[in-house]
Amino acid sequence: MPVPSALESAAPTHGGPEPAIRAVDLVKKYGDFAAVDGISFTVSRGEAFGLLGPNGAGKSTTMRMIAAVASRTAGQMQVAGLDPEQHGPEVRARLGVVPQQDNLDEELTVRENIVMYGRYFGLPRRYLLTKADELLEFAQLSAKANSRVEDLSGGMKRRLTIARALVNEPEVLLLDEPTTGLDPQARHVLWDRLFRLKEFGTTLVLTTHHMDEAEQLCDRLVVVDHGTIMAQGSPPNLIRQHSTREVLELRFGTDRNAEQAETLKQVLTHTDAGAGEVGFSHVEVLPDRLMIYAEQAEAALEKIHAAGHKPMTSLVRRSSLEDVFLRLTGRSLID
Ligand SMILES: Nc1ncnc2c1ncn2[C@@H]1O[C@H](COP(=O)(O)OP(=O)(O)O)[C@@H](O)[C@H]1O
Ligand SMILES: [Mg+2]
Repeated sequence: MPVPSALESAAPTHGGPEPAIRAVDLVKKYGDFAAVDGISFTVSRGEAFGLLGPNGAGKSTTMRMIAAVASRTAGQMQVAGLDPEQHGPEVRARLGVVPQQDNLDEELTVRENIVMYGRYFGLPRRYLLTKADELLEFAQLSAKANSRVEDLSGGMKRRLTIARALVNEPEVLLLDEPTTGLDPQARHVLWDRLFRLKEFGTTLVLTTHHMDEAEQLCDRLVVVDHGTIMAQGSPPNLIRQHSTREVLELRFGTDRNAEQAETLKQVLTHTDAGAGEVGFSHVEVLPDRLMIYAEQAEAALEKIHAAGHKPMTSLVRRSSLEDVFLRLTGRSLID
């Protein structure tokens, strides 16, 4: 029996040249407040695309407009060439949706959650029973097929929500904060599954406020804050554009960090033989530490030591997307 797919019955643009998603000047207002305030981006087919930003940035609102569950106040949107507001059912048939809050049916078994969800797409039950077992294997939940949802751990529930979202073989999988609230091991298991989907060619659109998640999973991302895009690009490009190669983190003790910042700036910009090698850019003062942005953080530390300054602790690391966010907004991603 040929495998029926929800996609085959969708509009004939399947496989066409248009991008997976195109959003132009997207706005969503609640009263006078703009939760999304003029966002534009394009997601290519097969790409893993991220919306990175702190709580309240407008990520979920954007996802809901893509998923045809929220209307937009202004702007244009196309998903696989179709406007979600005009072609809601067709767009939903092509999408898999993993909402920020799991909305599994706690009363049903793990397998039945997938089967029931597939029924909404009009897929036959007999097909769904086979499909569910295939998806549970993919989600590493085969042993839990007959368990009730309430007996699952947080990570398992998340994997089940992903498995369920794949039941209609979507072209695009939307994941709103896929690993928020999970412990590190559960996050890694989930990332591994998302890598697989990427390898299979599924287009992934995910939101996160974890910069490590964005760095791990996203080919390209937009940094969002207060409903607008602050920057966009691949993680390495964003870091190259908005930060230095390395960062030196120093702790001088809570009250002394700020006062040390000025002194160290002078040490690092002082033109002697070593200044060029350090490639010093700027200092950020955080409540508990100083972050010194430099191309060569180890060389910066040597200069600081040579000038007689003795931090309590020092750490040399590569720049991350967290540094990009801090540079662009003056704030940390997680507060
Ligand atoms: N239904 C709503 N009514 C009023 N304000 C909302 C509603 N949904 C979201 N908001 C507000 O819009 C902003 C963006 O929310 P959201 O898109 O959930 O952000 P994020 O997912 O990035 O944390 C927040 O300030 C939030 O309080
Ligand atoms: Mg959200």
